Amino acid sequence: MKIACFSTKPYDEKFLSAAAENFNHEIVFLEHRLDASTVVLVKGCDAVCAFVNDTLDASVLQKLSEFGIGLLAMRCAGINNVDLEAAAKFGIRVVRVPRYSPYAVAEHTVGLILTLNRKIHKAYNRVRENNFSIDGFLGFDLHGRTFGVIGTGSIGRVLARIMNGFGCRVLLHDPYPNEEAKQFGEYVDLERLLAESDLVSLQCPLTPETHHLINVDRLGKMKRGAMLVNTSRGGLVDTSAAIEGLKSGQLGGFALDVYEEESGVFFEDLSQEVMQDDVLSRLMTFPNVLITSHQAFFTREALETIARTTLESIDAFSRGEELVNQVVATPS
Ligand code: NAI
Repeated sequence: MKIACFSTKPYDEKFLSAAAENFNHEIVFLEHRLDASTVVLVKGCDAVCAFVNDTLDASVLQKLSEFGIGLLAMRCAGINNVDLEAAAKFGIRVVRVPRYSPYAVAEHTVGLILTLNRKIHKAYNRVRENNFSIDGFLGFDLHGRTFGVIGTGSIGRVLARIMNGFGCRVLLHDPYPNEEAKQFGEYVDLERLLAESDLVSLQCPLTPETHHLINVDRLGKMKRGAMLVNTSRGGLVDTSAAIEGLKSGQLGGFALDVYEEESGVFFEDLSQEVMQDDVLSRLMTFPNVLITSHQAFFTREALETIARTTLESIDAFSRGEELVNQVVATPS
């Protein structure tokens, strides 16, 4: 099969090419993001491999189907950017990589928390300028603090275990509680988690129900001065509300690896350009905000698993075998 692989960076090409050596398929690597203006590039291909910021709405999916694409292989876990109902309507099967390394994302989440709390990013720069003052770097012990995890799937469970290890009291919230997670924390309703947590971390998928899960109302219900961490999907947080919370001091810190308008910005080198996103620009001015550019997944182990699983799905599709990682629209 010939696969059009969109939004590829050198690291994608490296890991997917290595995985492809075990299969008999041809991958066409394209740097472009997939959207209505680039969909024509799939001409002559049988499958498409796409990523988190590609556009897979009904109009793009219709075009893919017209070009004869039968499989959309998402090389990620979160697939909120795919219109699954439209994919089914146009006869395109969708697969994803559901569990590649929960450790990668959970460990990056902890990295953000430690960095923001202890100002390690600022200390790095200060020391390099021969400024050995620690004034302004005062943090707090994680030990003894209450840590709230919203979403206790594979990543949330790893995070709950790590934070339990730090000596935090861990509160959990998920519509589908998990037995394993109960070893590391206590399931409570969302209101209680928000009211009692010193740190709140989002580990749930972005769906119509979870869009702006953290909004003005919920920020108001958080403990004053608590830290919010989002390594799941930007749309879970109403960024403008978070900015107001930071300005008033209701929100004591915000660490994020994902941003609701990240498409076209995150993953790109825009260092020579004028920033067009005023909300992101404002966010970057706060001393108590730490932003990384959707890199929580970015470990060697994760990229190897993503590449291997993606190729396995494509191979199974080409042989007419069962697609174990297929996703379908849930009936509304
Ligand atoms: P998972 O599917 O194993 O777990 C998600 C959990 O969220 C499930 O237990 C589900 O019941 C729960 N959930 C659903 N709606 C909820 C709600 N309203 N409130 C609380 N919990 C709710 O997913 P996994 O692998 O743990 O990943 C979680 C998310 O992390 C993904 O959907 C993806 O968006 C994001 N992610 C981010 C990455 C990054 O690089 N920053 C990399 C990988 C995933």
